[in-house]
Amino acid sequence: MAERDVFRAPKGTRDVLPPESARWGELVARFADRAARFGYGLVVTPIFEHYEVFARVGESTDVVSKEMYDFLDKGGRRLALRPEGTAGTVRAFAQHRPTAPWKVWYVAPNFRYEQPQEGRYRQHWQVGVEAIGSDDPDIDVEVIDLLHGFYRDLGLRQVRLLVNSMGDADTRERYRAVLLDYWRAHADVLGAELARAEQNPMRILDSKLPHWQDMIERAPQLAEHLSEPSAAQFEQVQTGLRALGISFEIAPRLVRGFDYYTATVFEFQGDALGGAQNAIGGGGRYDRLAEEMGGPPSPAIGFGSGIERVLLACDAEGVLPAPADRVDVFVIDAVGTVDAVVLLHELREVGLRADRAAAGRSVKKQWGAADRAGARWGVMLAPTELESGHVVLKDLATGEQLEVRREAIAARIATLRES
Ligand code: HAM
Repeated sequence: MAERDVFRAPKGTRDVLPPESARWGELVARFADRAARFGYGLVVTPIFEHYEVFARVGESTDVVSKEMYDFLDKGGRRLALRPEGTAGTVRAFAQHRPTAPWKVWYVAPNFRYEQPQEGRYRQHWQVGVEAIGSDDPDIDVEVIDLLHGFYRDLGLRQVRLLVNSMGDADTRERYRAVLLDYWRAHADVLGAELARAEQNPMRILDSKLPHWQDMIERAPQLAEHLSEPSAAQFEQVQTGLRALGISFEIAPRLVRGFDYYTATVFEFQGDALGGAQNAIGGGGRYDRLAEEMGGPPSPAIGFGSGIERVLLACDAEGVLPAPADRVDVFVIDAVGTVDAVVLLHELREVGLRADRAAAGRSVKKQWGAADRAGARWGVMLAPTELESGHVVLKDLATGEQLEVRREAIAARIATLRES
């Protein structure tokens, strides 16, 4: 027989299989619970949107200009797979005009054509929230508190919170001019990239190029140019965080990778991760995006947190073990009739986790499989007992065994489990 190539998932993507997927589910469940406690409802938007929706997150950013999965559909429309969650959510807000403030959370995959490495993928998943329609700095504190508490819930302790303010339009305009002068004075270092600096001077600040770091380090800082209202707004956010006992560091060079950010920006880094991919979550205000998408003026803030990276941070800190995926009851079939199928159905219908070994195994092997599945009870269908309308119930923890009437077995185990 000719040997066939084994199909593989595309570069930069990962399959999530049991038992890892149970941790994944656990993480999302905890996030959903926390979001609900904070008054956020689930929002589900399409995986693809019109290209222009995502172009709004910043044409001078790598995410849009180099990494977007965009394509023409069969009707000739230019579409793109979502590279992040904010743009689609804001598009939905502008389209449906829900009552503001609109507080929503999501869990979804995102696509970026990046150079894959540990913690950086071409498809990654994020949990995130967006709170649209309020400029109250208390909302900034609320979303940071939500994410901070989520990491603590998971057991993460080596997490560092960095915050900065991008100021208001006035601030940024003045700062851009100062910064651009500075880049022009370093045209020899920037080379052809000076053109990108001219388009958006702030983009250079989040570059990771080693030979630029000295220059970036000495660049003028936005914090020195904050307007009075911006400084007051930022101060209120800090006061709120202190009042909640959330420690943070001011990071004057934190500008984050999208053009839509205004005012507060923040990032959580997992110190146990080391290396470059240590940003486990981040976000900030984007006070003008809704308007740019045709919605009413609606200041907003949100964050996204990468599920894969959060799980890597959990591994590094040895927290959030996979939840035990044990079955309650295992059916041992010594008769080989349809009875096992019927019994399994009944057990599952009363709410028990029930399973059986693959067909055709010896009784001994089936008991072995029950042990391996971590079953609490085994129920054996044996010819003699069945003839008198009974099955054998075995407590796999104590080894105790008794006969139970066939029609009473499902209810009996359900009661045992409750006690
Ligand atoms: P972001 O910083 O690009 O922000 O992504 C958020 C998080 O997603 C990162 O902190 C990281 O944990 C994870 N992440 C990003 N790219 C990758 C990747 N290639 N592989 C694995 N994980 C990744 C946003 O996406 C904004 N939409 C966040 C936001 C919401 N701002 C306001 N609202």
